[in-house]
Amino acid sequence: MVERRIAVVEPKEPEFRRFKVSAPGKLMLFGEHAVVYGRPCLITAVDQRMEVSVQPKPNDLIEIGAPGVGITGFKMELDRLNESVETPAGARFLIASLRNFSKKFGLSSGLKIETKSEFSSEFGFGSSSAVTVGILKALAEFSEIKLDDRQLFDLSYQTVRDVQGVGSGFDLAAAIFGGTIYFVTGGKEINSLDIGELPLVVGYSGIKADTSILVRQVADFRQQNFAEAEAVFDQMTFLTQEARRFLEKRDWEKAGQLMDTNQNLLELLGVSTRKLSVLIESARKAGAYGAKLSGAGGGDCMITLVSEEKRGEVEKAIGDAGGKVLKVKTNARGVKIE
Ligand code: PMV
Repeated sequence: MVERRIAVVEPKEPEFRRFKVSAPGKLMLFGEHAVVYGRPCLITAVDQRMEVSVQPKPNDLIEIGAPGVGITGFKMELDRLNESVETPAGARFLIASLRNFSKKFGLSSGLKIETKSEFSSEFGFGSSSAVTVGILKALAEFSEIKLDDRQLFDLSYQTVRDVQGVGSGFDLAAAIFGGTIYFVTGGKEINSLDIGELPLVVGYSGIKADTSILVRQVADFRQQNFAEAEAVFDQMTFLTQEARRFLEKRDWEKAGQLMDTNQNLLELLGVSTRKLSVLIESARKAGAYGAKLSGAGGGDCMITLVSEEKRGEVEKAIGDAGGKVLKVKTNARGVKIE
């Protein structure tokens, strides 16, 4: 007699499609801090990207894996999104994005969310804004909701404001639109510059800056020295507009000189550090066109415009002065579906 065997197949979770999106990091070229007070700034997207993937799940759980910021296996119920539950710091932007998206468009299933970054969150390249833009774009894609870049900016900006209360939104514009951008507070103007790659060298100071603290520090300075702070911001406005002109003409030498002026103004605001100043000075001495800190100050990176002949010497000088040269390309592409 032939024995009939019945194969027992374990029920498998259905595999749903994964929606993968990537968004670039950014660097501030001119006008930081002034842009918090209604002034313009110039920014560029860098070719190091943050990848965010979203996979629907047949349950009502949000699962988050973001190893770059120490989050593995975080889970919460979908219907608790609107409660003010304790969330780990590394997941705050993701959860605020999910909350805002679900309020506006609804979310009907559980989700597995994973992030993977090509750059360290220590550099000040804007990992939080790239994550916010990435998750919102991925959610729109999987929910089949058409969000144009402006709507994506507005929803991302609202999310970042919900989490940190302050910020001009410049980093979101870089993550969404990419390229090199003239930007005014809150996205009042977002104009892409028609230029290619910038001859930039980026030096990391080794210290992670806390942007919110520095923004508050400048707010205090402005409160106590209103006329002086406003004068600094007005000079930054003029300088940023001039820098835009020179960048568009690819006059790196003139744009570099304006970096030096911008750095002096940032020093007046008290946001540079000794380490940043040492790296900036070393780049200038090695023949750079000009150099400044990039972003809030207090640490993170400095940037410098160089001629191709001087690039090697400037990079070496920054390294010798204790900085870490980060090899990035500028003017990178904005958010995209992978
Ligand atoms: O520290 P970063 O790279 O996020 O740059 C902050 C720039 C500020 O102008 C100080 C703040 C802002 O939101 O524009």
